[in-house]
Amino acid sequence: MKKLYGLIGYPLSHSFSKKYFAHKFQRERITDSTYELFEIDSIDQVEDLFSQPNLQGFNVTIPYKNKIMGFMDDFDHSAKKVGAVNVVKINHNGKKTGFNSDYYGFKNSLENWMPNMKGYRALILGTGGASKAVVTVLQDLSIPFLKISRDAAKGDLTYDELRTGPDVLQEHPLIINTTPLGMSPNIDAMPDVDFTKINEKFLLYDLIYNPAETRFMSEGRKMGARTKNGLEMLELQAEKSWEIWNS
Ligand SMILES: NC(=O)c1ccc[n+]([C@@H]2O[C@H](COP(=O)([O-])OP(=O)(O)OC[C@H]3O[C@@H](n4cnc5c(N)ncnc54)[C@H](OP(=O)(O)O)[C@@H]3O)[C@@H](O)[C@H]2O)c1
Repeated sequence: MKKLYGLIGYPLSHSFSKKYFAHKFQRERITDSTYELFEIDSIDQVEDLFSQPNLQGFNVTIPYKNKIMGFMDDFDHSAKKVGAVNVVKINHNGKKTGFNSDYYGFKNSLENWMPNMKGYRALILGTGGASKAVVTVLQDLSIPFLKISRDAAKGDLTYDELRTGPDVLQEHPLIINTTPLGMSPNIDAMPDVDFTKINEKFLLYDLIYNPAETRFMSEGRKMGARTKNGLEMLELQAEKSWEIWNS
């Protein structure tokens, strides 16, 4: 019987993970493992998956990254600090441990991209699920940041305050977009940032990976900023899942 891995969530029609692991298994000649999609419309259905004797672990996506936490026996640092689980490992004794591989994916890709991050301050655009992994990484790397939200109660500043506040943008040259603005098919959308103030000192990181260059990135690039999309983060978080299941 093959070792079973997979993804739970709803809906799963656009899943990157199944294709990623199929290619990986082929490329690395891993023949004893299979990665399947488990589209479940209620979190309680995860019990059926737990009853599979060959289950080694699985990824978790929207809308279950928080709800799955009630099924875990323990958590690693990333899941505890982020407050969400997107990787579950079934241990040899049957115990279930929750991890957050978005945390590792973002942290490793940021460290690759800007090895010298001393002195940088950041703006995080959006306060949703992915932003929580970004917040934890910046805290762990001692990068000071402000959260920008449409809702004054959820962030440190609203977009209006960012536009009108003197020097806020200049003092925070690392800008991380965790909103879905600009994601395919709505590729003309972008966060409400004053691009006339962006220059070659800025680093713009977009968590979006489709399209490869979002409008947020292209407007920044035209002003001289360095830009990066979310593809490396996505691949690194998938590889981290594999490492977790096989360690
Ligand atoms: N590269 C990767 O590995 C990776 C991993 C995870 C996620 N992502 C990408 O990150 C993006 C966010 O994912 P998520 O799971 O965090 O989504 P989410 O939980 O829905 O959060 C997105 C946040 O963006 C803000 N937002 C939403 N619609 C907006 C709008 N029309 N205008 C301005 N702000 C808006 C909201 O924050 P406020 O209410 O505070 O404004 C919202 O909480 C997606 O594009 C996803 O594909 C990439």
